[in-house]
Amino acid sequence: MRFPKDFLWGAATAAYQIEGSPLADGAGASIWHRFSHTPGTILNGDTGDVACDHYHRWQEDIEWMKRLGLNAYRFSVAWGRILPTGRGAVNHKGLDFYKRLVDGLLGAGITPMITLYHWDLPAELQDMGGWANRDCAKWFADYACLMFRELGDRVHLWATLNEPWVVMALGYLWGQHAPGIRDIGAAAKAGHHMLLGHGKAVQALRGLGLPNARIGIVTNLGPQQPASDSPQDQMVATLWHNFINRYFLDPIFRGEYPDTVLNFIGEFAPRVAPDDMQTIGTPIDFLGINYYTRNVIAYDASEPIGSRTVYQEGRLHTEMGWEVYPEGLYEILKWVRDEYGAIPLYITENGAAFPDAPNAQGEVDDPLRVDYIRAHLEQAHRAIHDGIPLRGYFYWSLMDNFEWAFGYSKRFGLLYVDHATQRRAMKTSGRWYAEFIAGQRGG
Ligand code: FCB
Repeated sequence: MRFPKDFLWGAATAAYQIEGSPLADGAGASIWHRFSHTPGTILNGDTGDVACDHYHRWQEDIEWMKRLGLNAYRFSVAWGRILPTGRGAVNHKGLDFYKRLVDGLLGAGITPMITLYHWDLPAELQDMGGWANRDCAKWFADYACLMFRELGDRVHLWATLNEPWVVMALGYLWGQHAPGIRDIGAAAKAGHHMLLGHGKAVQALRGLGLPNARIGIVTNLGPQQPASDSPQDQMVATLWHNFINRYFLDPIFRGEYPDTVLNFIGEFAPRVAPDDMQTIGTPIDFLGINYYTRNVIAYDASEPIGSRTVYQEGRLHTEMGWEVYPEGLYEILKWVRDEYGAIPLYITENGAAFPDAPNAQGEVDDPLRVDYIRAHLEQAHRAIHDGIPLRGYFYWSLMDNFEWAFGYSKRFGLLYVDHATQRRAMKTSGRWYAEFIAGQRGG
């Protein structure tokens, strides 16, 4: 397997999942801070108060990235560290944290990719409706523009939103994620306003004329396959496919929401103002794809949404209950190219949680994760071989961290984190990835 010379070999994280100290140095509370402090929301009552203490240990973490041989690192900025109430006065101490981090990365030869929104909306903005409020698009674009101005000279890869589908579905429709809302109308509004915020942020970046800056969005995609060839199974699989894979990409690349989904949600469909689709469709430079698994779907009238996911007996599943299905990575990369054209792509997340534990010597052997990464890289390589413009791979995650509603119970890291002592240890998979990268880079 030979990858292109300039391929980005990275790992990914998100602010609330690793930083800890969410209120330090003048930062404003986020909806995840508030949500995780609400009893009954997170497994074992875990919170991101400490997380991986990356806020204080970022220098050590860059050392680990160097040991891994990464040439790229995707992380997110906590909006509320920069603008404690979401808008208005800038908190320079928060900004300085990210400036130091970026300079540290660049000094280590690691290309930063910044995600501007990885789910931690400033809580004060939620009090005004959060993403369900149309003004949130503007608040987001203002914050994005500030970040471009402050860091655009040094950071050339920008992602606006991480997985807007998950924010819409888990945050506003089903409520397992912050802000914990269950309201289909609010969900549809939030989805539309995130798209609008994305488009406005892209326009803001273009307005600054930064010659090297590239901007895109990160979406969670995966095959949604029918459990049989019965017309009913095919119908529900198509509906899920359009809902998960097309709902955010069709507006960006085609200027419209998929009809099947709009018909399904009926009166709750988002209200689209005359120029919205033009803003949303402002051309982007790349698409980030987070790929974890597929869903095999059957029609089931007894379920509230008329369908259910069919567990694939005999296949390996991760701790999340997600089937390991590497071919799906190739399928989805090919689908994106065939459907939306040859836009540069990054795999911005791909990874697996397994029940890792250190042995008596303190070593963490995780052969299943090694297999997982190798199998997905084979599919990535196959895509490149077929002419798909894939430019980089970011493993999720650099280190074990706060896995949202599952707290610290799920370990995705290349680095094992002892959450009591904050000690990091390289897992076998980390060593394997480092060797693989070194081989690719001629090291
Ligand atoms: C994705 C999220 C990321 C992490 C992984 C496991 O949906 O973007 O923060 O939680 O799943």
